[in-house]
Amino acid sequence: MCGIVGYVGPETSGRALEVVMEGLGRLEYRGYDSAGLALVTADGIASEKRAGKLSNLKEALEASPVPEAPTAIGHTRWATHGGPTDANAHPHRAGGDGRLALVHNGIIENFHALKERLLAEGVAFTSETDTEVVAHLLSQAFDRTSDLTGAMQEVVNELHGAFTLLAVHADEPHTVVGARRNSPLVVGLGEGENYLGSDVAAFIGHTRHALELGQDQIVTITPEGYHVIDFDGTPSDGKAYEVTWDAAAAEKGGYATYMEKEIHEQPHAVADTLLGRTDASGRLVLDEMVISEDDLRTITKIVIVACGTASYAGMVAKYAIERWTRVPVEVELAHEFRYRDPVVDTRTLVVSISQSGETMDTLMAVRHAKELGAKTVSICNTHGSTIPRESDAVLYTHAGPEIAVASTKAFLAQITASYVLGLYLAQLRGETYGRSPAEIMAELHGVPDKIQQVLDGMNRVKEIASFMADTRSVLFLGRHVGYPVAMEGALKLKELAYIHAEGFAAGELKHGPIALIEPGQPVFVVVPSPDSEHGLHGKVVSNIQEIRARGARTIVIAEEGDQDVVPFADEVIRVPRTSPLLAPLLTVVPLQVFALQLSTAKGLDVDQPRNLAKSVTVE
Ligand code: F6R
Repeated sequence: MCGIVGYVGPETSGRALEVVMEGLGRLEYRGYDSAGLALVTADGIASEKRAGKLSNLKEALEASPVPEAPTAIGHTRWATHGGPTDANAHPHRAGGDGRLALVHNGIIENFHALKERLLAEGVAFTSETDTEVVAHLLSQAFDRTSDLTGAMQEVVNELHGAFTLLAVHADEPHTVVGARRNSPLVVGLGEGENYLGSDVAAFIGHTRHALELGQDQIVTITPEGYHVIDFDGTPSDGKAYEVTWDAAAAEKGGYATYMEKEIHEQPHAVADTLLGRTDASGRLVLDEMVISEDDLRTITKIVIVACGTASYAGMVAKYAIERWTRVPVEVELAHEFRYRDPVVDTRTLVVSISQSGETMDTLMAVRHAKELGAKTVSICNTHGSTIPRESDAVLYTHAGPEIAVASTKAFLAQITASYVLGLYLAQLRGETYGRSPAEIMAELHGVPDKIQQVLDGMNRVKEIASFMADTRSVLFLGRHVGYPVAMEGALKLKELAYIHAEGFAAGELKHGPIALIEPGQPVFVVVPSPDSEHGLHGKVVSNIQEIRARGARTIVIAEEGDQDVVPFADEVIRVPRTSPLLAPLLTVVPLQVFALQLSTAKGLDVDQPRNLAKSVTVE
């Protein structure tokens, strides 16, 4: 939700424009309603901003170039207050000649009251944003203090809500000041130059040395170094770390879109997430799991909190973790969790799942869980982000940077990490219902090759999608772990192809949704393995017959060798055989490819679907 980048380099470098534009390109996935930047030149601040994608800003800069400068800030926006117009785009400027420029990610909740105050003082506003209020406050504070860091400290203590702010002032041409509360900001450490970004992608082309900032901190960067203080002025060190991936990982690598690349990276995402989780004897060893074994042995309930795709990973995990540990697992949408007085206590383990580690709804759920005394574990893909930092323990997924707005490889990595967590708990508690954690881990290690086989056999799925560009509605059915897979298939199609799509539990069909079936209605059915218990496979085959009898066009995802589905399927998409609980890691892949291809067939922007943004940092 909004991408922010800041740069300060040597007086002579003049590369601030290049660095900030490159950073904005890498952060555009966070928001693409408008983009803008401000440079601190020898003649004061020069800025440009445009509604729409970054390409509009590029065109504007080509038409009227800005002077070279050693210092700059930039912003790519996901609109909250005020529509996506040029005027509402960031940066916002304030002070005489607009000598101060500010960019912001988040929401200033008390901006109305502050704006009233400023209006009464005669301040004129040029936008509808909450951000412009902060720009004026900061400019006034700078006029009093002649110190951008001091001014920032004064102003942040007046603000309520969530924010990352970056500011530059013409009177401090070699400084960028940033502040964060409930919103992400990392520092990139270079040689004679330093960077700020909403995430490390902003500066990964220049340095892999990064510094994590804590909650409620202000950072000042200059070419020579950085300085961190808390909002109350107490100096702080920040926490330095090395980014484990490089710029190439954040490029398209020969694929047409990031999403296509990320779908093809899934075998690696799963393999890397499994890496290093076992010792030589095959026992699970989770170094990051700093909650005591005794505490984990005595938990009586697990609550998984997450949103969107991550919540479907949580739903898949519920089946496996309950099966292996016999501990009851609830899965809750994070934004519902804290508003319904959940029954959580010191013997509850709350597991949050989040790719970005910055989703505000999930962060708030984790904080609420902690207030209630629960132990908290974060399953997260982003090192140093807020949710893992605030959780008692973290299990990182190692999917690498996910840049396409719609999540794919992170989903598979999230399922994998929650399975590792479930098996670890089972190992501690001596439960696995028949199979040892080591046996299941061994089978998991074989899954990346199977995902690759699925990817290698996707031609028919692509053909089916290419002929469906005019389709108005698609239904997805699944049962057991196939149910969340169906939900995920529907979500992918909604967000990528803007087609009405619904995922149902196949058993629910007869309780209402079957009324939607009319001749020609495309229905994907995720069929459980014939090895599934309780005759589940046969029941889903019956569901296929029921909808086929009413004219549905059935596209069936079934295991290799499953012949029972053939008479009732218009299309059969095959996945390799695997244990029923591991099947989601395979069956979701054709649904991702289908959504990608249908979106492409409709000529839509696969990586940046309309109205969306990655990292939803507002509630
Ligand atoms: C859908 C998608 C979203 C995210 C959700 C949570 O493709 O990407 O539904 O899964 O916004 O995001 P994270 O995992 O960053 O907390």
